[in-house]
Amino acid sequence: MSLFIKKPLEQLMTQAGDSDKGLKRTLGAGNLIALGIGAIIGAGLFVRTAAAAGEAAGPAVVISFVIAAIGCAFAGLCYAEFASMIPIAGSAYAYAYVTMGEFMAWIIGWALVLEYALASATVSIAWSEYLNNLLGGAIPYEWCHSPFETSLDGVTGIINLPALFILTILTLILIKGTKESANLNAVIVFVKVAIVLVFIVIGWGFINEANYTPFLIPETMEGHESWNTHGWGGVLGGAGIVFFAFIGFDAVSTAAQEAKNPKRDMPIGILGSLVICTVLYVLFSYVLTGVANWQDFKTAGKEASVAFAIQTYMQGYGWLATLITVAILAGFSSVILVMLMGQSRVFYSMSKDGLVPKVFSELHPKFRTPFKANWLLLIFVGAFAGLVPGSVAGDLTSFGTLFAFVLVCAGIWLMRVKNPEAVRPFKTPLVPLVPILGIVICSAMIFSLGEETLISAMIWMVIGLVIYFIYSKKNSILRKENSN
Ligand code: ALA
Repeated sequence: MSLFIKKPLEQLMTQAGDSDKGLKRTLGAGNLIALGIGAIIGAGLFVRTAAAAGEAAGPAVVISFVIAAIGCAFAGLCYAEFASMIPIAGSAYAYAYVTMGEFMAWIIGWALVLEYALASATVSIAWSEYLNNLLGGAIPYEWCHSPFETSLDGVTGIINLPALFILTILTLILIKGTKESANLNAVIVFVKVAIVLVFIVIGWGFINEANYTPFLIPETMEGHESWNTHGWGGVLGGAGIVFFAFIGFDAVSTAAQEAKNPKRDMPIGILGSLVICTVLYVLFSYVLTGVANWQDFKTAGKEASVAFAIQTYMQGYGWLATLITVAILAGFSSVILVMLMGQSRVFYSMSKDGLVPKVFSELHPKFRTPFKANWLLLIFVGAFAGLVPGSVAGDLTSFGTLFAFVLVCAGIWLMRVKNPEAVRPFKTPLVPLVPILGIVICSAMIFSLGEETLISAMIWMVIGLVIYFIYSKKNSILRKENSN
């Protein structure tokens, strides 16, 4: 039987219908935008903006954000078509099962583990940074850093305990089945957006124009290590780093089964949250690199950078640094929660298809949540959060997501050719141009991530292939059904 056996679209829609039981179509366009922003604004903005400026792009990180946004917009248009056409949980994994077959679906599902699981790890590491900042650095360096990190004064990390703490708390909440109340989400989104706006407005008055010169860091400057640091290469390298800040708009597509009018509202939710976040990000990064010098972000301002910029350069606004830190901690928690939930949904779909063991779709007798999956996920995510530096986990997250985006863009194109008559409530404009541009820009960002990330990602993907051939192919329900 072919490696590329496809799940018929009708079968998928029936499954979607089955799992519809109990799920109410309550989310309108506004709720979906809020859901998107809730999952999007997090460590990418508050931690990686400074990392991208310090390591790669300097103040031109503003352009990096625009490049990353353009790549996301093309991918977002493709996601919107799929989400309106196949409104089912499982997102890109489910789309691939229909369009490109089981093997590609597996590959996407495996890449999505990098996206969702490692995003949770990355954001929990960022949470630990900001917690320590709030506590005035009371947590000893070695207990809030990975063994692969060393402080400026020579202390080496052991394990990141605060990151493990927040992951455990959120896993317990997930297991309890805390309903993501639209109101709670709206409150967190309101706080996050308000904080970003307050920083932009107040920070604007503290911009030091000298910090923008040079805007594009010359390659002759110290710190130029490879093509993706400094100059235009650095801008692209920066785009690969800040791309992390956009991850999450695709999470809107996992709520497709709960949308009142998926046909109209999914595209609005996906693209609307993307547009709002892009505007906020460009303004925010402009102000941050204007208030503090990009070189600060290599040294003293490397961690909890926004609080650092306020404390160091915005005299009289110490209270703002504290307020922002508290808001950031709350905001990060919602990102971690949505990402952990996203991961368990993808595993749930894969488990229902027989590609990963049943344990991933076993529900808690009382809470009706995939509790065993949540515990296993905690061990896996916890290993990364506790022992791996945030930048490594973050780059792998970006790889997994970009890879999924490339395949979603390809899937839209393929589906148009092979299945032109399927009903498409929302149509990606200018096919195949938009998918091709999405593939090109996202691939360029993948290559900008650097050799080490690519090698680690390849190792991850090879492990995935081994598991597919040893386990998943033999246990695939679709294969079993078709061989009877
Ligand atoms: N976009 C999310 C964040 O920046 C993952 O935290």
